[in-house]
Amino acid sequence: MKRFLKTGAVIAAAGSGERFGEKKQFKQLKKRPLLFHTLNPFLECTDIFEIVVVVPEENLELVSRELASYTSAKPVRAVAGGARRQDSVLNGCLALSDDVEIIAVHDAARPFVTSKLISATIAGCRNTDGCIAALPCKDTVKKVMNNQIQSTLNRNTIWLAQTPQTFHRDILIRALKQNMDATDEASMVETLGGKVAVTEGFSGNFKITTSEDWKLAEELIIA
Ligand code: CTP
Ligand code: MG
Repeated sequence: MKRFLKTGAVIAAAGSGERFGEKKQFKQLKKRPLLFHTLNPFLECTDIFEIVVVVPEENLELVSRELASYTSAKPVRAVAGGARRQDSVLNGCLALSDDVEIIAVHDAARPFVTSKLISATIAGCRNTDGCIAALPCKDTVKKVMNNQIQSTLNRNTIWLAQTPQTFHRDILIRALKQNMDATDEASMVETLGGKVAVTEGFSGNFKITTSEDWKLAEELIIA
């Protein structure tokens, strides 16, 4: 049997919500801040042993107090984020216990993630450096510059990246410390030559970016 690898989660919630117009992670969705909806599947997921939530410095005290009132079987705490998402994720990774060997990174702005999808990304790390949730592309994809189509990409090879994005601790932290400009953790690990697998996500695991996304979340949220 393969050795057990302890897994921790980093939930990135330290953004400023520029496109949304406010810090969406704290906006009330069915009477609870969005962040706490996102937290739930991580609390429920039996493959996750520890959680760090990364929040803006100015919200750290309040969020920490809120988390302390939670009765949870696993340690959950908050740390302050940084200017860029990768700075926030790095702070979160460094705040996990030393014995955590696998780290699942997730956007606070994706509240519909399931514990099943979290576990699938963790299982997918067994034989690779990492595994991310992604959606096979259904549309035909064009590469466009100055309103002109340059080429049509082979749709069968195109996947849209989501989170969770889960990696072995050392390569993830090494990648985050490189100070690259990238929009997700996987691309940083890829740049280091890491092998990253995909597991199929689902369209409901969308990221709330604009107020339109928020309307959809309000329609879909159950509790
Ligand atoms: N995030 C973070 N630290 C940052 C920037 C983003 O932890 N410095 C988090 C956000 O809180 C969010 C996730 O990363 O949960 C995805 O980012 P995005 O949707 O871009 O959120 P914001 O950066 O807040 O929004 P915007 O880019 O419109 O400002
Ligand atoms: Mg952003």
